Amino acid sequence: MAEPVIAGRAPIGVEVEAGKTYYWCTCGKSAKQPFCDGSHKGGEFAPLAYTADKTAKVWFCACKRTAGQPLCDGAHKSL
Ligand code: FES
Repeated sequence: MAEPVIAGRAPIGVEVEAGKTYYWCTCGKSAKQPFCDGSHKGGEFAPLAYTADKTAKVWFCACKRTAGQPLCDGAHKSL
């Protein structure tokens, strides 16, 4: 499997809405980080659906190395 592009070295905070689904970019190529903009097409990656269970600010992974996709687990600190 190809390595995703490092889109950023800090998480991206987003106010999510309870019950709404978001499509997190797994390939790192999207210009609309942390979400998919279709740039993965033709490659091995596909976006990951994330449905918010509450309305709150959450921190999406931008380095694409988190073990807790799609949220930051601090993996960017060791890149
Ligand atoms: S643009 Fe990265 S997964 Fe779609």
